[in-house]
Formats: sequence, C-alpha cells, structure tokens
Amino acid sequence: VPERKVAILGAAGGIGQPLALLMKLNPLVSSLSLFDIANTPGVAADVGHINTRSEVVGYMGDDELAKALAGADLVIIPAGVPRKPGMTRDDLFNINAGIVKNLCSAIAKYCPHALVNMISNPVNSTVPIAAEIFKKAGMYDEKKLFGVTTLDVVRAKTFYAGKANVPVAEVNVPVIGGHAGVTILPLFSQATPQANLSNDVLTALTKRTQDGGTEVVEAKAGKGSATLSMAYAGALFADACLKGLNGVPDVVECSYVQSTITELPFFASKVRLGKNGVEEVLDLGPLSDFEKQGLEALKPELKSSIEKGVKFANQ
Ligand code: APR
Repeated sequence: VPERKVAILGAAGGIGQPLALLMKLNPLVSSLSLFDIANTPGVAADVGHINTRSEVVGYMGDDELAKALAGADLVIIPAGVPRKPGMTRDDLFNINAGIVKNLCSAIAKYCPHALVNMISNPVNSTVPIAAEIFKKAGMYDEKKLFGVTTLDVVRAKTFYAGKANVPVAEVNVPVIGGHAGVTILPLFSQATPQANLSNDVLTALTKRTQDGGTEVVEAKAGKGSATLSMAYAGALFADACLKGLNGVPDVVECSYVQSTITELPFFASKVRLGKNGVEEVLDLGPLSDFEKQGLEALKPELKSSIEKGVKFANQ
C-alpha cells in the first residue's frame, strides 16, 4: 500500500475532530496532518495514540501551514464557521470564503499536486473560489478539485431506505446539482433497489434530502450544524479519492466538480476517480419529469452561487 499523506485543515472543529478519527482508522493513510488555528496539538496527541498505521502530527497557526501541507496527497478542508439557526449556507459566505481563499493560496504554494476535498460551506461557492485561486497561482488542475456532496448521498440513501423498506446498506442513490437547498437533486428514479413509491412520497423524500442540513441545524438548536454525519461522509469520499489515487478500478462517487455535463461550469454528478483525480464525469442518465423540472429549477441558484464565488476570489 503506497504512502499517502492526508492533511485536514480545520482539524480541531466539530467536523474536523471526528474526521481526524475516521481518517486515523483508514489503512490507506500513512501520514495524517492535522492543522487548525488552535487546539491541534491536543487532537493530534489524542488521535495519535490509536494503534493504526498512520503517523499523526498536529500543526497550529499560519506559521505551521507550510509544514502541514508539504507532501500532502489529499487535503480535506472543513475549516470555517458552522451554520446557526436562521442562517442559510450563504450567510456563512463572507467568513468562510475568506478562510478558504487563504487556505487555497497555501495549497497552491506548498502542495500544488494534491487532491482537494472542499467541505467548508457554501460549497457551491467555495469550490469556484478555490478554482479561481488555483488559476491565479497557475497550478489549477480541474481534475483535482472536489466539493464534498457525499452527505447528500448518505442522507438520500438513509431516507429512501426508510420509505422503500429495503436494507439501507444495499441502497444507492445518485445526487446531482449542488450542495444547498433546492440545488441538491437526488435522483430517486435511479435508486437501487428500485421501489414503487408514489409521487407524493418521492416529493417528500426529495424535500427532506434538500433540507437535511437544516433539520440538523434546528435539532442542534444553536449549537451548530451537521458534524458527525458530515465527518462520516467526508471520510467516505476521502477514502474513494485515495482508492482512485492507488489505482483501484471503478471507484465512482457523486461530487461537485468542474464539468461540461450541463451549461454550468461546476456541477455535482457521478465521477469516476483515478490516479489523477477525476477520470471521467459520468452522464446524468435518464431523469423522471419531476427530476427534469428540479434540474431546471436549480440552475439559476447554482449559477449565481458560482458567480458569487468567482467574483469574491477576484476582488
Ligand atoms: N484555518 C484553519 N482552521 C480554521 C480557520 C483557518 N483560517 N478558521 C477557522 N478554523 C477552524 C476553527 O478553529 C474550528 O476548529 O475551523 C474549525 C471549524 O469548526 P467548527 O466551528 O466546529 O465548525 P464545523 O461544524 O466543523 O463546520 C465547519 O464545515 O459544513 C461546513 O458549514 C460548515 O463551513 C462550516 C464548516
């Protein structure tokens, strides 16, 4: 198994800590680099006592960012502030956009060949921000930049299994579009195992998937947004990226990437992962009329979120 260094930026946070734990359990990782503006020595000492393959080092503060990133094969970014009740993902924009901009400038400098898994919200905008920063630095490779939308897939699978009465572990559901509200479009017409669900149930499942983040924000009542399920989803996607890097064939996951599959420059859909990141963006497949409407409905919002990110990065 090749040596692989994974860096987590924002590793001491609500997502970062369980993500660090899950990556410590991943046998594909040989070096785990935990970066944050505070508290990473403690997190690294704690996680580092677990008797699995990887060596864990904590890095704290901007002075240590270069060391945290040097030699990384994969950088996962959950740094930022979480969503509070009443806040939309877009309300986070200004704070998180600035954080992402700085971290991506450092990636461009210290590990320009790494795959980047963006978790910091609003992902619909932070991924285009990263792309712009990388372009300016002259190292942008669109095959290596990913918005992590795996939590939407995880939620769609869980909610679908409950209604379709099928074992959740066997369920597959592609989720396309973006990573906020109506831009999230689960394709239940392509779900396996297929079940005969009424249009009302499919509409409700779609809505619940789109509002999954808000469901958690409200249940946490002021204490933040999804952390544990997001960490799980982030670890799942990172594992898929590492498998791709290692040459495992047929690794396919949904992700928000630069693509020409629609007229929008970034779009989430199924991608095949390989030794250089995105190997192929798979086509959307047949959509139901309901899904076709959802696809048209999401485009204006996704387009404006992308433009907002591009504008921020260039101002
Ligand atoms: N560099 C590195 N880490 C940073 C920076 C920075 N410039 N700024 C903030 N952080 C760290 C914080 O110190 C904190 O440890 O990011 C972490 C964020 O953790 P939480 O506040 O607990 O937030 P969390 O719930 O993990 O969500 C983080 O992920 O899903 C998104 O919307 C969510 O954008 C938010 C992000």
